Parts: sequence; structure tokens; C-alpha cells
Amino acid sequence: MISIEHVCKTYGKKDASVEALKDITLNIPDSGMTAIMGPSGSGKSTLLNMIGCLDSPSSGSIKIDGKDISQVSVKEKAKLRNKFFGFVMQDFALIPDYTVIQNIEVPLVYAGKKGKERKVLVENILSKVGLLEKRNTEVQYLSGGQKQRIAIARALVNDPKIILADEPTGALDLKTGQEVMKLFLKMKQMGKTVIIVTHSKEVAAQCDNVINIIDGKVDK
Ligand SMILES: Nc1ncnc2c1ncn2[C@@H]1O[C@H](COP(=O)(O)OP(=O)(O)OP(=O)(O)O)[C@@H](O)[C@H]1O
Ligand SMILES: [Mg+2]
Repeated sequence: MISIEHVCKTYGKKDASVEALKDITLNIPDSGMTAIMGPSGSGKSTLLNMIGCLDSPSSGSIKIDGKDISQVSVKEKAKLRNKFFGFVMQDFALIPDYTVIQNIEVPLVYAGKKGKERKVLVENILSKVGLLEKRNTEVQYLSGGQKQRIAIARALVNDPKIILADEPTGALDLKTGQEVMKLFLKMKQMGKTVIIVTHSKEVAAQCDNVINIIDGKVDK
């Protein structure tokens, strides 16, 4: 269970400050799919980044299985990220002059997996997202939708417990979007926690819970 208590996040200082999250309290159950919805600028990516230990709240706490992850050291954060999470970022966060394989391998390298094992895991996930034939292409030469699928492959390759996906189907056509949702549903069936930021009602309809964020607050 992920339990978020009284989380606030303010970016910047004084006149230039933005209150992106204003006293968010909510629980996200294990092994299910949760959608986070809300208008542009309402704080969805900010919330996802806090859950995923990419950034710290200004105040409040976030606990995963009872462990407070919100105020740990930078080093500890990196460890937690690798242990718990697979990320699909809104801007993909791929390395443009790395090939598809090299990009997907990144979390496996961090996890200390050997070359042969990495190759098997990468090819397995690439065939699941339907891009095995692009494995030696530099990602800068892929289309937006292909980049998105590579970002998803990278998030899933290390078999994380919690998958955080920011608009994972936003740049995809209907059919590819549905394929991607099938992958997430499979992850859920494997007992994983999937959290998806989305503007799509179709995506939200496939989730077990929907959280609406409006102007930095949970809309009840
Ligand atoms: N690093 C930052 N520094 C300053 N302000 C920021 C930063 N990141 C986000 N913000 C601001 O915080 C607010 C929430 O941003 P956030 O990215 O969480 O919105 P969002 O709900 O994900 O929007 P979208 O649907 O457009 O992706 C916005 O007003 C944004 O401008
Ligand atoms: Mg966002």
C-alpha cells in the first residue's frame, strides 16, 4: 500500500513560487491499477514524481509498505527507485544516441545483471512491445509512438513492483494504445501496482481506482 499523508509541494521561492500540491491525502492499494486524472497543470506529474522518489515533498509523508520514503537521503532514494519502481516519463527520458537495446538495458545495468541475462530480458520485452526489429536503431530515429513503447519496455524490463506511467498512451494511435494497456493489465494480473496518469476516459475505465487532481488537491 502507498499511503500519502498531507503532502504539499511548492516549487520556487517567494513571488515566483508555485504551490503544485496542496495537502494531498490518499491511499493507493497494492496490486491494482489506479488512474490519476485532472486538467493540465493540476499537479499529476508532480504527485507521480513524489511517489517515485524522483523528488521530495515540501511537507507531509509518503509511505510504501509502512516505510517513509519522503525524507530519505539522495543515495537512499536512488536505491528505493531501483528496488520498487519502473517509470514511463511524460517526455520518455530516453537517451537519443543510444540504441533501443542500450536504452532498455539501463535499469538492468544498475541492478547488476550480467550481459547474457540482459540480452534475454531485453529481447523478451521488446517482442512484447512489438519493436524487436528496431533493437539496434538509435532511438533518435524512432517515431514518437515507438519511443513511447521503448520507454514502456524500459520501465517493465527489471520486473518492478510498482509501475508509474505518465500519459503512457498519449502519443499512440488507438490500436497501439490498446496493446500498451494490455501490457499494463498483464502487469496488474501479475500482482503489480500500476499507477497511470491519463487524460483518456477509456484508459481510466480500465482502472480499479480513479483519483482526480484539481488545482493541486484531490477532488472528492
Ligand atoms: N520544476 C518545476 N518548477 C516550477 N514549477 C513547476 C515545476 N514542475 C511543475 N511546476 C508547476 O507545477 C504545477 C503542476 O505541474 P505538473 O507538471 O505536476 O502538472 P500536470 O498535472 O502533470 O500537467 P500536464 O497534464 O500538463 O502534464 C504547474 O503549475 C507547473 O507549472
Ligand atoms: Mg504532467
